[in-house]
Amino acid sequence: MPVILAAGRGKRMHSSIAKALHELGGVPLVEHVVRAISQSGLGRPYVVVGYQAERVEEALEGKADFVNQPEMHGTGDAVLRALEVMPSSVENLLVLVGDCPLIPPALIQDLVQQHQQSNAMTTIVTTYMEDPKGYGRIVRNPDNSLRAIVEEKDADAQVRNIQEINTGIGVWRTSHLREVLEQLPWHDGERYLTEAVALLLQNGDEVSTLLFSQPSLVMGINTRRELATAEARLRQLTLDRLFDQGVTIVDPASTYVDADVEVGQDTVLYPMTFLRGKTKIGRECHIGPMATIVSSRIGDGVTVDRSVVEQSALASRCSVGPFSHLRAGTYLDHNVKIGNFVELKNTRVGIGTKAGHHSYLGDATIGSRVNIGAGTVIVNYDGKTKHPTFIGDEAFVGCNANLVAPVEIGSGSYVAAGSTVTQNVPPGGLAIARSRQEVKPGWAKERKQRQKDTTHS
Ligand code: UD1
Ligand code: CA
Repeated sequence: MPVILAAGRGKRMHSSIAKALHELGGVPLVEHVVRAISQSGLGRPYVVVGYQAERVEEALEGKADFVNQPEMHGTGDAVLRALEVMPSSVENLLVLVGDCPLIPPALIQDLVQQHQQSNAMTTIVTTYMEDPKGYGRIVRNPDNSLRAIVEEKDADAQVRNIQEINTGIGVWRTSHLREVLEQLPWHDGERYLTEAVALLLQNGDEVSTLLFSQPSLVMGINTRRELATAEARLRQLTLDRLFDQGVTIVDPASTYVDADVEVGQDTVLYPMTFLRGKTKIGRECHIGPMATIVSSRIGDGVTVDRSVVEQSALASRCSVGPFSHLRAGTYLDHNVKIGNFVELKNTRVGIGTKAGHHSYLGDATIGSRVNIGAGTVIVNYDGKTKHPTFIGDEAFVGCNANLVAPVEIGSGSYVAAGSTVTQNVPPGGLAIARSRQEVKPGWAKERKQRQKDTTHS
């Protein structure tokens, strides 16, 4: 049965948010571990929660079961709490730590397999760290068998020099684990799971290790520095996945892609591009430079240049930018062209419609093949409420029009440039809502003459 220890506050993060909830590639740390377990085929884990338990449970809702550790009495105590809720039929506990997010599912499978084929009471995953500072050290006997795990705090200079460390990942047989854990000594109100190894050995139990050769994938995250290191490593893994799926990334060093993002074949990502959340991008798109796309779905053959797209959906062959902002709830049908300095919010746009320049389109439903002239503003807000606007197919909205919502612009109708439209326009009609132009021939000359006369008088 898989158990993830995630009750700790994460003091070394200097945060008011539980460490388990800090995000890596847009996904909470502890959720990465939950996913690794599920991908290794072991199903749904128990998560030991304590600090901000409600928030952690909410973040993992439906993905895990929870065990409460009322007081943070250390990793040994956390496993004891988990044991208490386990049915007696559970023979082994796979124990993982919630701050080790990059753990590969294949390692979990190897660990479980090795453990099951042995008689060991516990099998612990170890690795060699170039800088082992902060980790529990693996102390071995001259015959290389495991003697103990010694925490950094309790280690003398010689032990601190050991580079083989405890990853915090291991399998424990449950048979007499409770008795052993109850014997764990206390250190400043904490009991260390790691000290159970020496106790088991005293008992005459067999213990075993599995040496893992990729330390960067089993690093623990205790500090913001380590969070940044892990973020960089995850980003590298994500970009590698995209390369293998046939995506061109012009400058990997300046391309930031969250873990859950999907990108289709032959799409090109240009520099300074951020793809965040659950964004899905189609094939043969051109994204960037300097595009930010958050939790959006982008169809095939779409171009997004120097623009921000959030919680929106774009059908195939749309083009956006440079310098536009698609806010939450924007839906662009096929072939829509959004040019520069256009902001959309909660707006549907039909096939082939164009809004090329300097517009605000909010709370609107816009038909197909509509032309939105430069400077068109939908006046959707009266200071209290947002109102809807409907623009029919093939309508032509002239430049610098204000459409004061609620209002309907009928299909095939025209709105004259510079109009402030406050009444519905029938299909095929024309709305002119501006003062008529006056023309005064010779006015400039007359003005000059007037000025001369006043200075001479
Ligand atoms: C722990 C190990 C150390 C190992 C390292 C690997 C112990 C005593 N030390 O150290 O040998 O090298 O992980 O990264 O086990 N937790 C609880 N309840 C508690 C205390 C901790 O659930 O009362 C959880 C934390 O939320 C965290 C995990 O256990 O997810 C590990 O705790 P942490 O304080 O990060 O241990 P380390 O000092 O990193
Ligand atoms: Ca840790």
